[in-house]
Amino acid sequence: MTRSPVLEISDLRTYFYSRAKQAFIRSVDGVSLSIARGETLGVVGESGSGKSVTALSALGLIGGSPGVITGAVEFAGGDGARAGGNGRRNLLQDLARHVTVTERDGRIVAVAKDEPGWQAQVERSMRGVRGKEIAMIFQNPKSSLNPFLTVGQQISEAIRLHTPVKDSREAKERAIAWLERVHMDSPRLRFDQYPDGLSGGMCQRAMIAMALASEPSLLIADEPTTGLDATIQSRIVALLAELKSGLGVTTLLITHDIRVVSRLADTVAVMYGGTVMEHGPARDVLAPSVEPKHPYTSALLASLPSAQKNGGPHAIDGRLSVIRGEVVDTMDVPRGCRFYARCDRVTDTIRARCMSQEPALAAVTAGHQIRCYLYGDEPRDGARAG
Ligand SMILES: Nc1ncnc2c1ncn2[C@@H]1O[C@H](COP(=O)(O)OP(=O)(O)OP(=O)(O)O)[C@@H](O)[C@H]1O
Ligand code: SF4
Ligand SMILES: [Mg+2]
Repeated sequence: MTRSPVLEISDLRTYFYSRAKQAFIRSVDGVSLSIARGETLGVVGESGSGKSVTALSALGLIGGSPGVITGAVEFAGGDGARAGGNGRRNLLQDLARHVTVTERDGRIVAVAKDEPGWQAQVERSMRGVRGKEIAMIFQNPKSSLNPFLTVGQQISEAIRLHTPVKDSREAKERAIAWLERVHMDSPRLRFDQYPDGLSGGMCQRAMIAMALASEPSLLIADEPTTGLDATIQSRIVALLAELKSGLGVTTLLITHDIRVVSRLADTVAVMYGGTVMEHGPARDVLAPSVEPKHPYTSALLASLPSAQKNGGPHAIDGRLSVIRGEVVDTMDVPRGCRFYARCDRVTDTIRARCMSQEPALAAVTAGHQIRCYLYGDEPRDGARAG
């Protein structure tokens, strides 16, 4: 039996305006993905591919210039979900009526946005969701914790705010139990310390404890190990693996580190230029020798240091190489496949289509989709013909 999704994102689009370049940036450009209950979905892709903006958009945490979000983010958390998925609701419900996007010849030429109406709608939708139903942990845990409150105060507050526990003594004992659970050394001592007195690794453990203490239906972890030194990184990954098997928390894990995803993810979404190029079981997507695979996924895997040691196609003097060519410009997305300029697998049979119409994300096997004409004939819905 397939497990019902906790989060289902459909055709998510998030655009910003660059005053300097006087053009709209399609940071997220039609992302669709879903996470089943208890599953960890790893989202990978080069810097700037839209991983963080996807997560922030799902929580309505996009502001400024003009920070347009369209699409659907169906979320099934809490009691409704436990009762069989009836608690599903679209977190972006009714947002579209506050925004009008005008496109001409595939380029966004104008956006009209009722900012106050839009913000009020976001706040209504996210009430009781952000922080409680969906908790987030970020890179730089030290700056994400409040420097003026002790670690214990912050975790206890999350417990009292988001769980049925309201008594401060009981909240304290629970907070200490969470600190133990994340293997913080001397949890009672750390409870009374300010973030400033803790190392980066300890702060990340405290952040994880605080996120889980709310008993969320979904945990979003954006680069949870980036910025920590290598030994601490592997300890945090080991902790996340242990929590995954022990608590089975549904998790959206964003990272540019494919080794972290290999260790933790059940399914993987590979993002490029603001959209998903491949989405499927981790064992298929991340194994270099398993086909079919999107040419971008193959290039990403070949750029890993271990692939280079083994003489991978992108090896350069043993250094970590990058995929050849420039990352697609999301202010001026090409008409055809957005990976065309960097792709080394275009054949004469499909070249005309690769250049003129963006391919659809097509199923290659059950639960595994690839956006490439090597594996499917269909252009993306609404794709512009060149
Ligand atoms: N508030 C903003 N205003 C304008 N552009 C933005 C804003 N936030 C993100 N962007 C742009 O959107 C694109 C996607 O950014 P995002 O942060 O999602 O990338 P990412 O995949 O998370 O990259 P990284 O691996 O470096 O964290 C980038 O080009 C970024 O510059
Ligand atoms: S559609 Fe064409 S250009 Fe795009 S990844 Fe596939 S082969 Fe390469
Ligand atoms: Mg990011």
